[in-house]
Amino acid sequence: APSVHSSSSTLLTSDTDERYANVNWEELEFSLTPTDYMFVAKYKQGETFSEGNIVPYGDISISPCSAIFNYGQGLFEGLKAYRTEDKRIRLFRPDENALRMQNGAERLCMTAPSAEQFIKAVKQTVLANKKWVPPPGKGSLYIRPLLIGSGAMLGLASAPEYTFLIYATPVGEYHKVSSGLMNLKVNHHNYHRSHYGGTGGVKSCTNYSPVVKTFLEAKSLGFSDVLFLDAATGRNIEELTTSNIFIVKGDIVTTPPILGTILPGITRKSVSELARDIGYKVEERDISVDEMLEAEEVFCTGTATVVKAVETVTYKDKKVKYKTGEEALSTKLYTMLTDIQMGIVEDKKGWMV
Ligand code: COI
Repeated sequence: APSVHSSSSTLLTSDTDERYANVNWEELEFSLTPTDYMFVAKYKQGETFSEGNIVPYGDISISPCSAIFNYGQGLFEGLKAYRTEDKRIRLFRPDENALRMQNGAERLCMTAPSAEQFIKAVKQTVLANKKWVPPPGKGSLYIRPLLIGSGAMLGLASAPEYTFLIYATPVGEYHKVSSGLMNLKVNHHNYHRSHYGGTGGVKSCTNYSPVVKTFLEAKSLGFSDVLFLDAATGRNIEELTTSNIFIVKGDIVTTPPILGTILPGITRKSVSELARDIGYKVEERDISVDEMLEAEEVFCTGTATVVKAVETVTYKDKKVKYKTGEEALSTKLYTMLTDIQMGIVEDKKGWMV
């Protein structure tokens, strides 16, 4: 384990310079590069959240009897900080992540930090790790806020203590495939990602491990991701393993509705607004697999994913190819979104912090 030495007023692992020197900023992947600091705040039943502070990044100690370990009571968030050409560091819509964590906490009976505390903590985490924000155009600093039931309890209840923790890591492209395009497999078997009344609409830690099996199976067959169908009828498309989906036909862009089974993506919401701005009609409604197979274009969105064109969708023995490239709406939306994030165009929407 790296030794720890004192750096100004805070302790920091001694291998930070070496780790930093070893980062290949030209080839960043979506993987963990430990940074220097993380934020930790605690909430004890009946009190308010502690103010929290920045501590060296590293392992934490949690009761074996905690709600997160035993009952999966935990939420995570994901957002990014970008270094722009004008030498600023910008966050994309952190207020939306704060709100989503609060909604998730309400669903899982947890106590969430206020939006103000959430945003302040995100800023502190980024500033403490600012050297790790990649150079403009080379990637972003992915910020991962967690809210977990950390106090000891055995009987099922709301946890006696919660930990709000934020760590950050420089990342490159998610779904890095040579063509830059996605090839999806529609999952028409027994496994579902979520169901009405479940937790698919919040960013619960428990939403993700059940889909790893299906995801890895699809990967082993050469697909980039799985498209899940609604559990009730198996007719409508819902979501990929970790991103939202859109279809395009003519000037209509359609995406499945937020009814508790799909994650209310912040990129989903932003891209819908951008599509409307350039004259598309955006509809949120059920989309059958058949309708998707007849669409002109399909694309997916997410914080990690950004906006990615889908080249093919395979459903049973049918494989459909969609429009991609310069003419595709997804390419336009990707540019519009990332130009705002990177400060290339003016942020007229007030999305950047
Ligand atoms: C994100 O896009 O931020 C997510 O949380 C998905 C994750 C599995 C990388």
